[in-house]
Amino acid sequence: MQRIFSMLWLLIIYMNGYAQQAQIVPGAVWHDTAGNGLNAHGGGILYYNNTYYWYGEIKQGVTWRVPGSTWENYRVNAGGVSCYSSKDLLHWTYNGVALPAEKTDSTADLHISKVIERPKVIYNKKTGKFVMWMHIDSPDYRYARSGVAVSDRPEGPFRYIGSVRPNGNMARDMTIFQDDDGRAYHFYSSEENETMHVCELTDDYLSHTRNDHRILIKRSREAPAVCRYNNRLYLFTSGCSGWTPNAAAYAVADSIMGQWTEHGNPCKGADADSTYHAQTTYVLAVPGRKNCYIFMADRWNKNNLEDSRYVWLPLIFNTAGIPGITWKDQWKITE
Ligand code: DGJ
Repeated sequence: MQRIFSMLWLLIIYMNGYAQQAQIVPGAVWHDTAGNGLNAHGGGILYYNNTYYWYGEIKQGVTWRVPGSTWENYRVNAGGVSCYSSKDLLHWTYNGVALPAEKTDSTADLHISKVIERPKVIYNKKTGKFVMWMHIDSPDYRYARSGVAVSDRPEGPFRYIGSVRPNGNMARDMTIFQDDDGRAYHFYSSEENETMHVCELTDDYLSHTRNDHRILIKRSREAPAVCRYNNRLYLFTSGCSGWTPNAAAYAVADSIMGQWTEHGNPCKGADADSTYHAQTTYVLAVPGRKNCYIFMADRWNKNNLEDSRYVWLPLIFNTAGIPGITWKDQWKITE
């Protein structure tokens, strides 16, 4: 009898998780298919083999403010990078820790005392490897580097290779954009977060070429996310205000290494000036659908970073190619 009850209980938990994710509900607590809270912050999506993989920062445990910090330096122990998979962008199965944090060696980049943020994974067709780039930092954010890890399988485990300052430049918030021709680019906030850089990666995606350009010069933008629409490139960013949200902005270019022209906030309506209390992390061009993009953002809770939420909203380009984002209490990708 007790066994039947336990099984029924598990079934209820599973159905509950399933029902809650029948739509995208921005800002709600999201669960994986096992009913556990989804822990993948500052994340990004890889689409591979008809499956979506979501990688993000594991933020778990006590949040504290780094003593002596003059800015919003709230943190948790670095938890490494999680990986979830889904066929429909609604029901996410936990695949485990794709890149674990290091518990003993306090000098290691991945030590729990360090910062591991904004992981992004792309697949390299030529080498058959999955490559993860991420922001690696010291607790005071002075280290300002980019880490790289590699795996034979999308779920990991990823093998950490090391960290660099691309072409000698400071590198904090970042994203990776893989273009249709297979070339990959690293967008990173540099020069004390004042200027964004975009740098082409080598063919194996494991290092930086010298093709490194300064863009959004002295505009103090971070949290970059990039997509291509109708032969133009769009870069979405936030301002720099720690964990406190601010207004997003976007920039457009005809080619990645060309001129990026800045525009205003793509968000409309109530709370647009705070990006609906969230900060960009990724823009997903939903494969196989035209003009179907998801603007993905984090609603950080600086006092309890583990309880930071996900704000995913439709990003729609109008006939003039202007992107727009409006709040939705809940929505489906088919809409
Ligand atoms: C803003 C960044 O976008 C986040 O990824 C994180 O580094 C916080 N700053 C830390 O305050």
